[in-house]
Amino acid sequence: MTGAPITVVGMVNARYDAVAEFYDAGFSDLDDPVLRALLRLAGPVDGLRVLDLACGHGRVSRELAGLGAHVTGVDLSSALLAKARAAGPPSIRYVHANAADMDELPDGSFEAVVCNFGLSDIDDLGGALAEVGRVLRATLRRQVGANHRTLSTYVDELSRNGLWLAAMSEPPAPESWKSDPVRREAARLPVFLVARCVRRSREI
Ligand SMILES: C[S@@+](CC[C@H](N)C(=O)[O-])C[C@H]1O[C@@H](n2cnc3c(N)ncnc32)[C@H](O)[C@@H]1O
Repeated sequence: MTGAPITVVGMVNARYDAVAEFYDAGFSDLDDPVLRALLRLAGPVDGLRVLDLACGHGRVSRELAGLGAHVTGVDLSSALLAKARAAGPPSIRYVHANAADMDELPDGSFEAVVCNFGLSDIDDLGGALAEVGRVLRATLRRQVGANHRTLSTYVDELSRNGLWLAAMSEPPAPESWKSDPVRREAARLPVFLVARCVRRSREI
């Protein structure tokens, strides 16, 4: 066999780089029930240092910056990050990194972490949540928007990494799903899960 070995990081990177155009064009709407639930559970972010984990092309980062947060976005896809940077504003810092290995970000450097449709796509969930626990200041907020993995997987990994589940919301699927032949069945189920977690202090 010739050529460089394909690493997991390389595969994930390529996975999202390959769909960057499609994602940027198709997922710009901020008025969706999941994002509304995520922002509601996040509470006021004005003046807070907020990490947008798996930020993609930055649509949530921009929304948070508009609400007064000091935002850092992290993503594995350089193609999506290029779109995020191009959209501005320049006050948002974007970092190209694996969520499970964010060396560039110091311990306790954020008051809140949000992750919108990211945990479901991150291969190393445990590694990413350990990093969230590290960069998040104790007793403050962490919020996730996620789907696909089982609830017990999320609860167990959150708990293992010192993140306590404080509130959850399961927004309904968009109305349009009801007439979509592919999504009609799924529209009857609670397909989205938004959770708010609190990082417990290390002393507890
Ligand atoms: C469904 S998109 C969501 C993007 C953005 N949060 C949004 O709501 O538009 C999933 C994102 O997860 C990112 N991602 C997947 N694995 C990752 C990892 N290990 N570290 C950082 N980002 C990752 C992808 O590059 C992609 O941008």
